[in-house]
Amino acid sequence: MDSSQSDVEDNAEHLRQEIGSLHSSIKDKSTLDKAASNEMVLKSLLIKATRYLAAHPFSKDIYESGLFGSSLLPLPQPASHSLANVLYLQAQLLRHSPEGPVASGCIAKLEEAVNAGVLANPNATTKRKPQLKREKELREMKIAAGIVNVEEEERLEKEAREVKEERSAHHKRRKVRKLESKIISLASLEADVSDLMSTYTTPQLCGSCTTVPSRVDWSVVPNILQPSAEEEGGGGIKDSERAGRKMSQLESLRVVLDSVILGRSLSIVDFGSGSGNSSLALASLFPSCNFTLVDSKPSCVSILKTRIATSGLSNVTPFLGDVMDYKKPFDVGIAIHLCGEATDLAMKSCIANRASFVLVPCCVGKIHKVIQSQIDANVETPDYPRSSWLKSKLSISDYLSLTRVADFSDGRGEGSHSVVAEKSKVLIDVDRARRGEEEGYTMQVGKLEPKTCSVKNDIIVGKAPITLDAVT
Ligand SMILES: C[S@@+](CC[C@H](N)C(=O)[O-])C[C@H]1O[C@@H](n2cnc3c(N)ncnc32)[C@H](O)[C@@H]1O
Repeated sequence: MDSSQSDVEDNAEHLRQEIGSLHSSIKDKSTLDKAASNEMVLKSLLIKATRYLAAHPFSKDIYESGLFGSSLLPLPQPASHSLANVLYLQAQLLRHSPEGPVASGCIAKLEEAVNAGVLANPNATTKRKPQLKREKELREMKIAAGIVNVEEEERLEKEAREVKEERSAHHKRRKVRKLESKIISLASLEADVSDLMSTYTTPQLCGSCTTVPSRVDWSVVPNILQPSAEEEGGGGIKDSERAGRKMSQLESLRVVLDSVILGRSLSIVDFGSGSGNSSLALASLFPSCNFTLVDSKPSCVSILKTRIATSGLSNVTPFLGDVMDYKKPFDVGIAIHLCGEATDLAMKSCIANRASFVLVPCCVGKIHKVIQSQIDANVETPDYPRSSWLKSKLSISDYLSLTRVADFSDGRGEGSHSVVAEKSKVLIDVDRARRGEEEGYTMQVGKLEPKTCSVKNDIIVGKAPITLDAVT
């Protein structure tokens, strides 16, 4: 036996003796109760036992003492942070021998401490994080000790989720039914709002084009600018199916943009460009136009800079900021999947600049916050509905329900509520188009082709009114 081994043995022997006396002192319940009521004493007993356990994790003595698992040892209330952490330490040690009454008892104690919220260090600056960490560890311990039946727990969780989903679907269906009757009762909208679409020409898209130059010639677009860019940190879409869908969207967008640009050298702003998966390829396909890519996320702008530098593209400038922060004049605005209200802000900015625009809106449900705040503030001229036409038919509160119903991204395509969802979405986009018309724009509303290129495939095109300046 070398000296370090004998030290451990001596130590263990010493601890064994200590635990022996500890043992006899806790044999009768009254001593234990006293110990428990005196947190200091209890803590020192536990520390000793923990040290002993560290030297002999599988000690029979400890198992037999029942000290850790003993229901005789109540956790003082309120338990202190440091005492709870001693319990935690024990439970950690017991992870290596997770079975048996000691482990389960200790875990039960720890759970008590976790539930009492005492494990988080009261002096720590972030209290919730350590508590969460402990909760997670506790669960792992319980699984290891066989206290938790994971399968049963998952089954129960699934059941609870299903009940919740059913409740929320029921809630949505009720709302939709209410709204449906409202939509149908709008006299001038007739029974079916989808008819409204027929008042707009659909933008000419490229779903059925089969040949270059009608289709995008991807061989002229540098790899790093394509949605499928694979370069590390290059911002491309990793999932090849999604990247393919984005490329299909760009087929349509290029044709639409072509019909707006009409061979001119224009300044184009992409609002909410992200890392450029739409507009970098477009910039490469329209080299005589200057593109500004606006995004509020610094990480996106940094990827944009890398992609621009790597490709040597000279007609693109990134701009870090919010849609409304961009103040320079421009000729055409685009906004592809710019969430909720931001699409309307982009359209507003285009109208202020008398610029044409191409919008592929998304997440209409997200507009509800700004609408609700306008309702709460009782603003005199709310931003929604967008057009005077719909303002004369729907109150802002009705419009709020409309956005909620229209945001059925999960349920569209099935059941009667999906029909109403679709109608509501049409109404929201037609309202945007009407607003454009009220500003003198020539409007088109349609869907990207093929429709499967995105669930968010609605497209709104606004061609700017020709100003006298432009004519002279
Ligand atoms: C879904 S991504 C679309 C990216 C890109 N248009 C495309 O088609 O791949 C939306 C982007 O809009 C940006 N965004 C959202 N709200 C914005 C706002 N108010 N101002 C500027 N950027 C915004 C987000 O940071 C995000 O990068």
